[in-house]
Amino acid sequence: MYVRILMSILAVVVTASWALAQNHPGTLKNGERIFQQHCAGCHGTSGDGLGPDIKELIVPPVNFRAPKSRTKTDMELYLSIKRGVLFSPMHGWADRLSDQEIRDVLRYIRSLAPFNPIG
Ligand code: HEC
Repeated sequence: MYVRILMSILAVVVTASWALAQNHPGTLKNGERIFQQHCAGCHGTSGDGLGPDIKELIVPPVNFRAPKSRTKTDMELYLSIKRGVLFSPMHGWADRLSDQEIRDVLRYIRSLAPFNPIG
């Protein structure tokens, strides 16, 4: 009897946390945290490319809101984050962020500047 009640409580808890996880994937929030911590210094808190650290850079960071960036696919941006951009201060993050974290931060960037294929 006791075990049965315990099992049903457990079932409710598991189901509830699963349902919660579906409603709140958490990736956007995590993406925002990663972005503000690692990227905003160059790309700016709003993704406009005007972060406080850009004075020292030879190549200016990308303004994610500009058509040049918004017309790029998620895959293109994903690879730029993972591998970096050649001959620029944008180094790859593969050694510091997991694939999931790169997806999270990409999702956050796309929330600031959604993909727009016609610019
Ligand atoms: C040291 C400054 C700096 C930091 C920190 C930085 N970036 Fe960059 N990023 C750049 C520069 C500069 C470019 C542009 C390279 C070019 O145009 O050749 C760039 C380009 C990019 C691009 C390519 C955009 C496009 O339209 O092609 C993406 C995506 C990107 N950064 C994401 C990130 C993410 C995500 C982070 C944090 C995890 C980050 N960057 C951290 C400087 C930085």
